[in-house]
Amino acid sequence: MDQFGKAAGVVARVRAMVQDGTLVAGDAVPSTRVLAAELGVARGTVVAAYEQLDGEGWIRTRQGAVARVAPGVGAGHWPTEHAARDASGRTDGHADSAAGTGADLLDARPGIPAVTAIAARDWRAAWRAAADAPLRNALSDPAGLPELRAQIAAQLGLARGFAPEIGRVVVTAGTAEALSLVTEGLRNRLGRAPVVAVEDPGYRSGRRAMMSAGATLVGVPVDGDGIDVDVLGRIGPVDAVVVTPTHQYPLGSVMPVARRLRLLDWATRTGAVVVEDDYDSEFRHRGSPVPALAALDATSVVVHVGGFSKTLDPRLRCSYVVLPPGPVHEAVAASRLARGPVVAEPVQVALAHLLRTGALRRHLGRVRRDYTHRRERVATRVAAVAGLEARALDGGLHAVLTWSGRAAGRDVVARMARSGVLVSAVEEYEVSPGSAPAGIVLGYGALTLPQLDRALDVLLEVLRVRGD
Ligand SMILES: Cc1ncc(COP(=O)(O)O)c(C=O)c1O
Repeated sequence: MDQFGKAAGVVARVRAMVQDGTLVAGDAVPSTRVLAAELGVARGTVVAAYEQLDGEGWIRTRQGAVARVAPGVGAGHWPTEHAARDASGRTDGHADSAAGTGADLLDARPGIPAVTAIAARDWRAAWRAAADAPLRNALSDPAGLPELRAQIAAQLGLARGFAPEIGRVVVTAGTAEALSLVTEGLRNRLGRAPVVAVEDPGYRSGRRAMMSAGATLVGVPVDGDGIDVDVLGRIGPVDAVVVTPTHQYPLGSVMPVARRLRLLDWATRTGAVVVEDDYDSEFRHRGSPVPALAALDATSVVVHVGGFSKTLDPRLRCSYVVLPPGPVHEAVAASRLARGPVVAEPVQVALAHLLRTGALRRHLGRVRRDYTHRRERVATRVAAVAGLEARALDGGLHAVLTWSGRAAGRDVVARMARSGVLVSAVEEYEVSPGSAPAGIVLGYGALTLPQLDRALDVLLEVLRVRGD
């Protein structure tokens, strides 16, 4: 048996011990050394198995501490999200917002990461740093706390392939505010409503924010390589285009380098701005990491938008834009000044602390592993069902599931909701009706594997197809 098969055996054994009541919530599981010796397998095999069990929510492992059966997990129970994570102290026993509406309702809509996986010690230290920051008789810098902007710039250099000067980094209240701010800057610069091209299907909240900031939107189709640059070139004068090149939202394509260069070339020739929404690029499950489009920007046409909603907690409402040097920078910075600061300074202090101390990087390392397990589960289960297809699985925290039958996505979503599982229909992301395939968007960031199984079981039931 290979290492993977042996690890699967260890996983099955520990699960069985919990299910038959040999181990109960809070019990220490045997140390990796002891179990490896007992089973005659390499210690690394047991470590891998424990990582898997942790990702599934059966046990909790923490470096330097004894691994224990997760609270709430017991004989006859599947672990729940709360059981898997509440012991971190992070949620203080409050009902988690992932479901939010009743014990049996499973919220598998996209957009919710594994917030409760944040190490309690790191989280508390960050907020202590915010509380300890000297009080000042002063207003906040509208562009954001210099320390946070410096940390963001450094992190981009490490993880996204470009390291901007701090002056180009501007803090915003989420991606929607970032897009609204950029729209306002463009509108002021142009003296008219900017024409903004958007991906179809694409990010609804972003479209809403830009429209209310006065943009005229034009939908551009996406294919397996992202936005169609030929169509973009044909639709007439465009002032800006908003793209998700690393993981098209929601369909999941990665824009290859050749198309990235054509997009940048088009923008350089036409004077348009390319807004890169880099929302979940930190999570690649297959292949090597994809650098940001901004890393290829030799002509200063890219506005890069990133944030902490997928990497840490969407409730922080903290994102940022990185502006290219030149008139767009000046216009957007002027709008930031006029709007004033939008993210509370103590939040920024806490975030800067999480970045400076490496807590964010450690957290990413941990959840990346969990997300990859969940992604594998979706891929494996969907592959076993004829007529069902999974997309968007190479990165990020959601999957798009499409089927060969005639069922409309909205109907499937409504029927799944009646069975207690909330997902989104791909059609909801369309700019023009019919641009997206019938399908659902399933967020797996905050689900345990048993919860994922339940969501997939309900989908198969609704579609009346049978998995192996
Ligand atoms: C395409 C896209 N961009 C950005 C975000 C993050 O939005 P925000 O920063 O406003 O929380 C999301 C969240 O689901 C998203 O889907």
